[in-house]
Amino acid sequence: MIATRLHPDKQTAAQAIAREIADLIEIRSKSGKPTVLGLATGSTPLPLYAELIRLHREEKLSFSSVITFNLDEYEGLGATHPQSYRFFMEENLFRHLDIPAANIHIPDGLSKDLAKNCTDYEAAIRAVGGIDLQILGIGRTGHIGFNEPPSAVDTRTRWVHLDEVTRRDNSAFFGDIALVPHGALTMGVATILEARRVELIAFGEAKADVIRRAIQETPSAHCPATWLQKHPHCTFHLDAAAAKAL
Ligand code: GLP
Repeated sequence: MIATRLHPDKQTAAQAIAREIADLIEIRSKSGKPTVLGLATGSTPLPLYAELIRLHREEKLSFSSVITFNLDEYEGLGATHPQSYRFFMEENLFRHLDIPAANIHIPDGLSKDLAKNCTDYEAAIRAVGGIDLQILGIGRTGHIGFNEPPSAVDTRTRWVHLDEVTRRDNSAFFGDIALVPHGALTMGVATILEARRVELIAFGEAKADVIRRAIQETPSAHCPATWLQKHPHCTFHLDAAAAKAL
């Protein structure tokens, strides 16, 4: 069951989700528990990250008890590469907050043993008791994380081949499609579905069709976001343009 929440603009959506995260951190830290967040990259979560930074700076929200797991990383790109997701997260979120460095997890696109990196990633998520709240964007292919079609409901963190649509969509950041990696590491659909709460964000008309498919099509590997219909606590945060085809 997917709940939809329509927001007048990106900023309002960001404030609503940031408030939810802040409440979760406050409740859990009062009883001495960490908060485990699953995080996403792409342009969509940027207003949310800006709002979390504001809450930290202006409202003294501490992230010292937060543990994070990012969804994905490009194969072959490391922390110093400006298009790596590790670099993106440092720039747009982590360096502005007080999350202990040891609490931050992102698949290692430079690992010499990618398969082991993926099984270790799953084990690290399990070791902290699972993800409390997962932030998601969505790709026009129906991907969540980098789970391109076809991605089965039981997939786990693994190496994936990137769809050409996704490479083209993401080439704007690289300047040239030839520079976009062909592979990536991503949490699987099953990994994402195990998060206790999922908040997917989509803005703009370019996402309207895939949002319609994710909500209305029968769940299948052809549109991996449809698997979210099986999640008991999943909300799609949309602006009017992204909700246009519903
Ligand atoms: C990338 C990421 C996804 C993200 C998608 C959408 O492909 N791997 O996690 O959801 O981009 O990006 P944007 O938010 O820029 O539309």
